[in-house]
Amino acid sequence: MKVIHSVAELSRELASSCHSAGKSVGLVPTMGALHEGHASLVRRAVAENDAVVVSVFVNPTQFNDPTDLEKYPRTLADDCRLLESLGVTYVFAPSVEEIYPEPDTRVFRFPPLDEVMEGPRRPGHFNGVAQIVSKLFAYVKPTRAYFGEKDFQQLAIVRRLVEQLGLDLQIVGCPIQRESDGLALSSRNKLLTSEQRSQAVAISRTLFESKKYMESGHSLAETKDFVEKAIASAPGLELEYFEIVDGDTLQSLEEWADSDYAVGCITVHCGSVRLIDNLKYKVRG
Ligand code: PAF
Repeated sequence: MKVIHSVAELSRELASSCHSAGKSVGLVPTMGALHEGHASLVRRAVAENDAVVVSVFVNPTQFNDPTDLEKYPRTLADDCRLLESLGVTYVFAPSVEEIYPEPDTRVFRFPPLDEVMEGPRRPGHFNGVAQIVSKLFAYVKPTRAYFGEKDFQQLAIVRRLVEQLGLDLQIVGCPIQRESDGLALSSRNKLLTSEQRSQAVAISRTLFESKKYMESGHSLAETKDFVEKAIASAPGLELEYFEIVDGDTLQSLEEWADSDYAVGCITVHCGSVRLIDNLKYKVRG
């Protein structure tokens, strides 16, 4: 496994070892602090491609809160050990100056996907994600790129980005990985105290219970109410939003019959840690 810090070296290396030989390249973009959720994306990328690039870059342009950017965990040495054990070909770990030698002034819009949920609550976030992801696609020219379904809105926006840019690459969405008690794996879980960690499990537990509630015949409005009340009464948690949306358009649904792909997306604060999760209520069969 080679650890590469410069864009020029990455492009040179991929051109000579992969693209010129017609080899497939899988890209797994990450911000590091890797956990089993990332490992599942990497395993899939390794299984499906001749070579795999994992980028490890805490992208400043997608953070709208400087404190959040500052306290984001950075664990490159541990990340590299894990990636080597998974059979990754290249780790791309650039500096901020390498990626943004000058400010990126490009503006991406993805209406209506970026106008709901995380969009208005984290102004500029998806623009920053599009800036870095479009740069990574240009540097790596991957055959496939892997993203987790935990960031459900991000995945929909990245698919739209690929359409907008007319890129010839496959976006592979991978299922949420969970702790044994159900908490969705996230780099931010490392920031929870042990008390907060035990409180946070109420998020996934509530989502799973709400699916049973829905399956026992309750309406969408009742199911939404069920989740909102359960989180409001859970110690240590504060609900930011819970929306049940169409999985393609991300627009809120009023009735279960309005879509055959219904996903509940939730954001909850546990102390100062912002946690997101989602659950599919209806999937196309
Ligand atoms: O999901 C993430 O970790 C980041 O948003 C991504 C896709 C690596 C872009 O910085």
